[in-house]
Amino acid sequence: MRKPFLAGNWKMNTNAKGAVALASGLVKELKTVTTVDVAVCVPFVYLQTVAASLSSSNIALGAQDVYFQPNGAFTGEISCEMLKDVCCTYVIIGHSERRHVIGETDELINKKVSAAISGGLLPIFCVGELLEERESGKTQQVVADQVRKGLAGINAEKIQAVTIAYEPVWAIGTGRTATAQQAQEVHEMIRGLLAKMYSPKIADAIRIQYGGSAKPSNTAELMKNPDVDGLLIGGASLKVDDFAAMVKTIA
Ligand code: PGA
Repeated sequence: MRKPFLAGNWKMNTNAKGAVALASGLVKELKTVTTVDVAVCVPFVYLQTVAASLSSSNIALGAQDVYFQPNGAFTGEISCEMLKDVCCTYVIIGHSERRHVIGETDELINKKVSAAISGGLLPIFCVGELLEERESGKTQQVVADQVRKGLAGINAEKIQAVTIAYEPVWAIGTGRTATAQQAQEVHEMIRGLLAKMYSPKIADAIRIQYGGSAKPSNTAELMKNPDVDGLLIGGASLKVDDFAAMVKTIA
């Protein structure tokens, strides 16, 4: 049985005061929840502050990106060790905004996934098709390709650290959620691919989150799908009430 996993992706939002208010609000609301894994992925500069707010709670801390080199002359980048140092458990890698706005390639994302696992972090590895790719019938091919390339060289032991997030790009921040069926179709394909790349047993244990305009009103329907094991939540994770409601719906 896969334990449901909800992660909030705060993106480039909040300020120091807002970050503490959001984290403390969630700690209060979710005190009794033990049947769902919950994480918040916070801007780098607020990680340490939010870590303090989350201490002695069930809510894990995550970052939104990491660099694959351990240290050195990489101005502006953050290493796995630095993230561990400020109590991060998870790190989002390959988010569509990094792929399509910042220009990250599958090869770079693969290096980051590999470095994160070796560095003791749990990657939330994101994949998803553009609208034109969906409309031209290429969704399965595009997502399968991202999965294969992003996980190249990740062995059967290491893959167990990974959560996959399927986030159709056209659904992110648009209010246009994938239907439960559209999500299930892709999640099922990803799990089938993992079964071939690793083994059915390993594929069965890997959590696959859906992301893209997930909100309280569509949480139950999305989570009803047999292969949807959680959600990666952007906009709705910025409101204590919405994010807490989503966690409680699943719990
Ligand atoms: P959204 O973002 O929930 O605001 O659509 C999801 C994500 O980008 O992770």
